[in-house]
Amino acid sequence: MKIVKTVAELSGQLASYRKENRKIGFVPTMGALHQGHLSLVKEAASQADVVVASVFVNPNQFNNADDLKRYPRDLSKDAAMLEAVKCELLFAPDVNEVYPEEDKRVFDFGSLETVMEGKYRPGHFNGVAQVVSRLFDMVKPDKAFFGLKDFQQLAVIQNLVQQLNLKVEIVPCAIIREDDGLAMSSRNALLTEEQRKNAPEIARTLFDSCNFVPELTIEALKKKVHDEINKSSELEVEYFEIVDGYTLQAVDNWTDSNYIVGCIAVFANKIRLIDNVTYKNKDHEY
Ligand code: PAF
Repeated sequence: MKIVKTVAELSGQLASYRKENRKIGFVPTMGALHQGHLSLVKEAASQADVVVASVFVNPNQFNNADDLKRYPRDLSKDAAMLEAVKCELLFAPDVNEVYPEEDKRVFDFGSLETVMEGKYRPGHFNGVAQVVSRLFDMVKPDKAFFGLKDFQQLAVIQNLVQQLNLKVEIVPCAIIREDDGLAMSSRNALLTEEQRKNAPEIARTLFDSCNFVPELTIEALKKKVHDEINKSSELEVEYFEIVDGYTLQAVDNWTDSNYIVGCIAVFANKIRLIDNVTYKNKDHEY
Protein backbone atom coordinates (compact mmCIF):
# COMPACT_ATOMS: atom_id res chain seq x y z
CA MET A 1 0.00 0.00 0.00
CA LYS A 2 1.25 3.47 -0.89
CA ILE A 3 0.89 6.30 1.62
CA VAL A 4 0.70 9.83 0.24
CA LYS A 5 0.43 13.07 2.16
CA THR A 6 -0.03 15.69 -0.54
CA VAL A 7 -2.66 16.35 -3.18
CA ALA A 8 0.06 16.34 -5.85
CA GLU A 9 1.21 12.82 -4.90
CA LEU A 10 -2.40 11.68 -4.62
CA SER A 11 -3.26 13.02 -8.08
CA GLY A 12 -0.23 11.33 -9.64
CA GLN A 13 -1.20 7.97 -8.20
CA LEU A 14 -4.88 8.35 -9.15
CA ALA A 15 -3.92 9.24 -12.72
CA SER A 16 -2.17 5.88 -13.08
CA TYR A 17 -5.31 4.03 -11.89
CA ARG A 18 -7.46 5.98 -14.34
CA LYS A 19 -5.07 5.23 -17.20
CA GLU A 20 -5.69 1.55 -16.48
CA ASN A 21 -9.43 2.27 -16.43
CA ARG A 22 -9.74 1.07 -12.84
CA LYS A 23 -12.87 2.11 -10.92
CA ILE A 24 -11.99 3.85 -7.67
CA GLY A 25 -13.72 2.98 -4.39
CA PHE A 26 -13.11 5.54 -1.64
CA VAL A 27 -13.34 5.14 2.13
CA PRO A 28 -12.89 8.45 3.98
CA THR A 29 -12.05 8.06 7.69
CA MET A 30 -10.73 10.01 10.63
CA GLY A 31 -8.43 7.14 11.60
CA ALA A 32 -8.44 5.18 14.88
CA LEU A 33 -9.64 2.37 12.67
CA HIS A 34 -11.64 -0.64 13.80
CA GLN A 35 -13.43 -3.55 12.12
CA GLY A 36 -16.27 -1.21 11.10
CA HIS A 37 -13.90 0.81 8.90
CA LEU A 38 -12.28 -2.37 7.58
CA SER A 39 -15.70 -3.69 6.56
CA LEU A 40 -16.10 -0.52 4.44
CA VAL A 41 -12.74 -1.20 2.79
CA LYS A 42 -13.73 -4.82 2.12
CA GLU A 43 -17.03 -3.70 0.62
CA ALA A 44 -15.17 -1.15 -1.51
CA ALA A 45 -12.78 -3.87 -2.69
CA SER A 46 -15.74 -6.01 -3.74
CA GLN A 47 -17.41 -3.18 -5.71
CA ALA A 48 -14.43 -1.31 -7.21
CA ASP A 49 -11.08 -2.11 -8.84
CA VAL A 50 -8.92 -0.15 -6.44
CA VAL A 51 -9.54 1.06 -2.89
CA VAL A 52 -8.34 4.46 -1.73
CA ALA A 53 -8.77 5.40 1.95
CA SER A 54 -8.11 8.67 3.71
CA VAL A 55 -7.18 9.32 7.31
CA PHE A 56 -7.79 12.91 8.30
CA VAL A 57 -9.08 14.19 11.63
CA ASN A 58 -11.16 17.07 10.33
CA PRO A 59 -11.06 19.95 12.82
CA ASN A 60 -13.99 21.70 11.10
CA GLN A 61 -16.50 19.05 12.16
CA PHE A 62 -15.71 19.17 15.89
CA ASN A 63 -17.88 21.63 17.76
CA ASN A 64 -16.07 20.77 20.99
CA ALA A 65 -12.34 21.50 21.31
CA ASP A 66 -11.81 18.81 23.98
CA ASP A 67 -13.45 16.20 21.77
CA LEU A 68 -10.99 17.09 18.98
CA LYS A 69 -8.02 16.94 21.38
CA ARG A 70 -9.16 13.59 22.80
CA TYR A 71 -9.77 12.01 19.39
CA PRO A 72 -7.47 8.92 19.17
CA ARG A 73 -4.68 9.07 16.54
CA ASP A 74 -2.28 6.31 15.45
CA LEU A 75 -1.40 6.52 11.76
CA SER A 76 1.06 3.63 11.61
CA LYS A 77 -1.45 1.26 13.24
CA ASP A 78 -4.17 2.51 10.85
CA ALA A 79 -1.88 2.00 7.85
CA ALA A 80 -1.07 -1.59 8.89
CA MET A 81 -4.79 -2.38 9.28
CA LEU A 82 -5.65 -0.90 5.88
CA GLU A 83 -2.83 -2.75 4.16
CA ALA A 84 -4.08 -6.06 5.60
CA VAL A 85 -7.46 -5.60 3.88
CA LYS A 86 -5.97 -4.71 0.49
CA CYS A 87 -6.33 -0.95 0.50
CA GLU A 88 -3.95 0.20 -2.27
CA LEU A 89 -3.58 3.87 -1.47
CA LEU A 90 -3.79 5.81 1.78
CA PHE A 91 -4.15 9.58 1.67
CA ALA A 92 -3.09 11.03 5.02
CA PRO A 93 -2.87 14.79 4.55
CA ASP A 94 -2.23 17.40 7.20
CA VAL A 95 -4.59 20.28 7.82
CA ASN A 96 -2.86 22.75 5.47
CA GLU A 97 -3.15 20.31 2.60
CA VAL A 98 -6.91 19.96 2.99
CA TYR A 99 -7.55 23.58 3.97
CA PRO A 100 -4.81 25.71 2.33
CA GLU A 101 -7.09 28.56 3.27
CA GLU A 102 -10.05 28.79 5.60
CA ASP A 103 -13.12 27.03 4.20
CA LYS A 104 -15.90 29.57 4.55
CA ARG A 105 -18.54 27.65 2.62
CA VAL A 106 -21.90 27.36 4.34
CA PHE A 107 -24.08 24.47 3.21
CA ASP A 108 -27.82 24.31 3.63
CA PHE A 109 -29.25 20.88 4.37
CA GLY A 110 -32.63 22.24 5.46
CA SER A 111 -34.48 20.18 8.01
CA LEU A 112 -31.99 17.28 7.63
CA GLU A 113 -29.52 19.20 9.78
CA THR A 114 -31.77 20.84 12.38
CA VAL A 115 -32.54 17.62 14.24
CA MET A 116 -30.56 15.09 16.31
CA GLU A 117 -26.78 15.40 15.66
CA GLY A 118 -27.34 18.68 13.83
CA LYS A 119 -29.28 20.10 16.77
CA TYR A 120 -26.85 18.94 19.48
CA ARG A 121 -23.64 19.51 17.51
CA PRO A 122 -24.18 22.84 15.73
CA GLY A 123 -21.85 23.29 12.75
CA HIS A 124 -20.91 19.59 12.72
CA PHE A 125 -22.51 18.73 9.40
CA ASN A 126 -21.21 21.88 7.74
CA GLY A 127 -17.71 20.71 8.69
CA VAL A 128 -18.45 17.19 7.42
CA ALA A 129 -19.75 18.63 4.12
CA GLN A 130 -16.66 20.84 3.77
CA VAL A 131 -14.22 17.98 4.19
CA VAL A 132 -16.18 15.36 2.25
CA SER A 133 -16.68 17.71 -0.72
CA ARG A 134 -12.94 18.56 -0.68
CA LEU A 135 -11.92 14.91 -0.44
CA PHE A 136 -14.34 13.98 -3.24
CA ASP A 137 -12.84 16.75 -5.34
CA MET A 138 -9.32 15.46 -4.69
CA VAL A 139 -10.03 11.73 -5.14
CA LYS A 140 -12.93 11.88 -7.65
CA PRO A 141 -14.07 8.39 -6.67
CA ASP A 142 -16.58 6.33 -8.62
CA LYS A 143 -18.07 5.06 -5.36
CA ALA A 144 -17.70 6.13 -1.73
CA PHE A 145 -18.54 3.97 1.28
CA PHE A 146 -20.12 5.18 4.53
CA GLY A 147 -21.38 3.31 7.58
CA LEU A 148 -25.04 3.37 8.60
CA LYS A 149 -24.03 3.96 12.23
CA ASP A 150 -23.74 7.64 11.28
CA PHE A 151 -27.26 7.52 9.90
CA GLN A 152 -27.80 11.27 9.70
CA GLN A 153 -24.33 11.86 8.21
CA LEU A 154 -25.21 9.46 5.41
CA ALA A 155 -28.43 11.39 4.64
CA VAL A 156 -26.53 14.69 4.67
CA ILE A 157 -23.80 13.33 2.36
CA GLN A 158 -26.39 11.93 -0.07
CA ASN A 159 -27.98 15.38 -0.10
CA LEU A 160 -24.56 17.02 -0.61
CA VAL A 161 -23.90 14.82 -3.63
CA GLN A 162 -27.26 15.87 -5.11
CA GLN A 163 -26.72 19.56 -4.38
CA LEU A 164 -23.25 19.61 -5.96
CA ASN A 165 -24.34 17.28 -8.74
CA LEU A 166 -21.38 14.97 -8.11
CA LYS A 167 -20.87 11.79 -10.09
CA VAL A 168 -19.93 9.65 -7.09
CA GLU A 169 -22.24 6.83 -5.97
CA ILE A 170 -22.72 6.72 -2.19
CA VAL A 171 -22.83 3.17 -0.83
CA PRO A 172 -24.38 2.73 2.65
CA CYS A 173 -22.81 -0.11 4.66
CA ALA A 174 -24.21 -2.08 7.62
CA ILE A 175 -23.32 -1.23 11.22
CA ILE A 176 -20.58 -3.53 12.56
CA ARG A 177 -20.95 -4.49 16.23
CA GLU A 178 -18.80 -5.99 18.96
CA ASP A 179 -19.88 -9.48 20.16
CA ASP A 180 -21.87 -7.86 22.97
CA GLY A 181 -23.76 -5.64 20.50
CA LEU A 182 -21.96 -2.33 21.04
CA ALA A 183 -21.71 -0.51 17.71
CA MET A 184 -18.04 -0.20 16.75
CA SER A 185 -16.72 3.33 17.09
CA SER A 186 -13.31 4.94 17.43
CA ARG A 187 -14.64 6.51 20.63
CA ASN A 188 -15.13 3.09 22.29
CA ALA A 189 -11.37 3.04 22.93
CA LEU A 190 -11.83 6.05 25.22
CA LEU A 191 -14.33 4.31 27.54
CA THR A 192 -13.25 3.29 31.05
CA GLU A 193 -13.60 -0.37 31.96
CA GLU A 194 -16.85 0.35 33.82
CA GLN A 195 -18.30 2.46 30.97
CA ARG A 196 -17.33 -0.22 28.45
CA LYS A 197 -19.17 -2.82 30.56
CA ASN A 198 -22.32 -0.70 30.52
CA ALA A 199 -22.17 0.57 26.93
CA PRO A 200 -23.76 -2.56 25.30
CA GLU A 201 -26.94 -1.60 27.17
CA ILE A 202 -27.54 0.93 24.38
CA ALA A 203 -27.75 -1.68 21.61
CA ARG A 204 -29.50 -4.19 23.87
CA THR A 205 -32.24 -1.68 24.65
CA LEU A 206 -32.61 -0.65 21.01
CA PHE A 207 -32.90 -4.27 19.83
CA ASP A 208 -35.33 -5.11 22.63
CA SER A 209 -37.46 -2.08 21.75
CA CYS A 210 -38.23 -3.68 18.35
CA ASN A 211 -40.34 -6.26 20.23
CA PHE A 212 -42.78 -3.51 21.27
CA VAL A 213 -43.56 -2.29 17.76
CA PRO A 214 -46.33 -1.48 16.96
CA GLU A 215 -47.97 -2.33 20.32
CA LEU A 216 -46.47 0.63 22.17
CA THR A 217 -47.05 4.12 20.83
CA ILE A 218 -44.01 6.01 19.59
CA GLU A 219 -44.18 8.29 22.63
CA ALA A 220 -44.32 5.33 25.04
CA LEU A 221 -41.46 3.51 23.29
CA LYS A 222 -39.28 6.61 23.39
CA LYS A 223 -39.84 6.89 27.14
CA LYS A 224 -39.12 3.19 27.67
CA VAL A 225 -35.78 3.38 25.82
CA HIS A 226 -34.80 6.58 27.65
CA ASP A 227 -35.65 5.16 31.07
CA GLU A 228 -33.95 1.83 30.51
CA ILE A 229 -30.66 3.27 29.33
CA ASN A 230 -30.63 5.97 32.01
CA LYS A 231 -30.97 3.24 34.66
CA SER A 232 -27.29 2.51 34.08
CA SER A 233 -25.23 4.79 36.32
CA GLU A 234 -22.64 5.19 33.55
CA LEU A 235 -25.01 6.23 30.74
CA GLU A 236 -27.15 9.27 30.05
CA VAL A 237 -29.31 9.61 26.94
CA GLU A 238 -28.83 12.91 25.11
CA TYR A 239 -31.61 12.23 22.61
CA PHE A 240 -33.59 9.32 21.29
CA GLU A 241 -35.71 10.13 18.24
CA ILE A 242 -37.91 7.90 16.15
CA VAL A 243 -37.80 9.36 12.65
CA ASP A 244 -38.71 8.92 9.02
CA GLY A 245 -35.57 7.32 7.52
CA TYR A 246 -35.61 9.67 4.51
CA THR A 247 -36.54 13.06 5.95
CA LEU A 248 -35.18 12.41 9.48
CA GLN A 249 -38.24 14.16 10.88
CA ALA A 250 -39.90 12.71 13.97
CA VAL A 251 -42.90 10.50 13.30
CA ASP A 252 -45.91 10.35 15.62
CA ASN A 253 -47.37 7.01 14.52
CA TRP A 254 -45.98 3.75 13.17
CA THR A 255 -48.14 4.22 10.06
CA ASP A 256 -46.60 7.63 9.23
CA SER A 257 -43.80 6.20 7.04
CA ASN A 258 -42.56 3.05 5.29
CA TYR A 259 -39.11 3.61 6.68
CA ILE A 260 -38.80 4.25 10.43
CA VAL A 261 -35.53 4.42 12.35
CA GLY A 262 -34.73 5.04 16.02
CA CYS A 263 -31.58 7.17 16.44
CA ILE A 264 -29.85 7.66 19.76
CA ALA A 265 -26.94 9.58 21.30
CA VAL A 266 -25.76 8.62 24.77
CA PHE A 267 -23.10 10.09 27.02
CA ALA A 268 -20.80 7.84 29.04
CA ASN A 269 -19.45 10.74 31.09
CA LYS A 270 -17.76 12.85 28.38
CA ILE A 271 -17.69 10.15 25.70
CA ARG A 272 -20.58 10.43 23.28
CA LEU A 273 -21.84 7.25 21.59
CA ILE A 274 -24.41 7.03 18.81
CA ASP A 275 -26.37 4.11 17.44
CA ASN A 276 -29.61 3.38 15.60
CA VAL A 277 -32.10 0.65 14.87
CA THR A 278 -34.47 0.20 11.95
CA TYR A 279 -38.05 -0.44 13.07
CA LYS A 280 -39.60 -0.61 9.64
CA ASN A 281 -38.13 -0.65 6.15
CA LYS A 282 -40.34 -1.51 3.22
CA ASP A 283 -37.99 -0.14 0.57
CA HIS A 284 -34.47 -1.12 1.53
CA GLU A 285 -32.55 -4.28 2.21
CA TYR A 286 -29.21 -3.66 3.92
O1 PAF B 1 -17.53 9.44 9.53
C1 PAF B 1 -16.39 9.94 9.64
O2 PAF B 1 -15.44 9.30 10.07
C2 PAF B 1 -16.18 11.38 9.24
O3 PAF B 1 -17.28 12.16 9.56
C3 PAF B 1 -15.80 11.55 7.75
C4 PAF B 1 -16.93 11.11 6.84
C5 PAF B 1 -14.54 10.75 7.45
C6 PAF B 1 -15.51 13.02 7.45
O4 PAF B 1 -14.47 13.52 8.24
